[in-house]
Amino acid sequence: MKYNIKVTKSKESGLSSVDFDNIPFGRVFSDHMFTADYIDGEWTNFEIVPFGPFSIHPACLALHYGQAVFEGMKASKTADGQALLMRPEMHARRINNSASRLCMPDFPEDLFVEALHQLIGLDEAWIPPQTGSALYIRPFMFANGEFIGVAPSDTYKMMIFTGPVGPYYPKPVRLIAEEEYVRAVKGGVGEAKAAGNYGASLLPAKKAREAGYDQILWLDGNEFKYIQEVGTMNIFFVIDDTVVTPATDGAILKGITRDSFFHILRDKGYRLEERPITIDEVVQAHNAGKLTEVFGAGTAAVVAKVSDLTYRDQEMVLPPLDENSVGTILKREIDGLRAGTIVDTRNWMVPVSKMVTA
Ligand SMILES: Cc1ncc(COP(=O)(O)O)c(C=O)c1O
Repeated sequence: MKYNIKVTKSKESGLSSVDFDNIPFGRVFSDHMFTADYIDGEWTNFEIVPFGPFSIHPACLALHYGQAVFEGMKASKTADGQALLMRPEMHARRINNSASRLCMPDFPEDLFVEALHQLIGLDEAWIPPQTGSALYIRPFMFANGEFIGVAPSDTYKMMIFTGPVGPYYPKPVRLIAEEEYVRAVKGGVGEAKAAGNYGASLLPAKKAREAGYDQILWLDGNEFKYIQEVGTMNIFFVIDDTVVTPATDGAILKGITRDSFFHILRDKGYRLEERPITIDEVVQAHNAGKLTEVFGAGTAAVVAKVSDLTYRDQEMVLPPLDENSVGTILKREIDGLRAGTIVDTRNWMVPVSKMVTA
């Protein structure tokens, strides 16, 4: 342990009231959380404390000007009870990339990972043992300066809390290509996991749902021509046996699942193209019978299969995924790594070292 993280254990665990077979997503929280403060140019007050609300000043800068970034990751458990993190250093790096774009300070990446080990180790019993279930981990950083003024805060808070989530078996997703609203533009904050990006997506997502679709296919903000992402996931197409995903250009979040897929696809010998892809190309591929799969990629679902995609007045219906579909193979690999049933040849899975016990 390099850092001195002070631990105050909760007096009572909430665990006994949780039904692991029936967990509402995002509404159940584990016993402890990690907190740190950025004061006078450095990070300090590293603590694990009982999970709970805290007070903030009404002028808290994050509430007014949106200096807030976050991460989303999962801890899983093998059949013999070993808790695992997947590529935690990638999340440590990405929250700093996000923070940097929002003019927020770097958080030491080794402290981020150490805090995860201590927090998850302490609340290990909250990792659901059921296949496909996991402990969702939510690290976030926000400006807590107490003044009104559009300027970077001089103080920040970093926190990490967790909560068990059940298996995510999304039904195939109905997609609509969005031509009124945009998620992100080049030069904006689309590549950051900034809180404001998600706030801005709520209205278009609501309208899409009212029109009968599950998610939005986001197009670029200049020409509404280049494909960016799907909902809050990266997107993959299989065209003529080649896996194609949009190249990141500053407006697309660099998903960690996306990156893991690249490694798996290359290892398995698939043809992979990371390049700009237009909605017209997708329509043409579909019309020529060459578009065999469309799926979203992200931590929550791993793979979310697209059943149909509507662009203007054309609805493109995709065939169902089968055992040999690229999306199925990718999901199986990630799920197997998380469960410890597939050998981790890439050193992605990090056993949680239990530094503090509950
Ligand atoms: C906008 C957006 N795109 C893509 C992703 C997928 O990223 P990851 O695979 O790191 O979860 C996420 C989820 O984090 C997201 O919020």
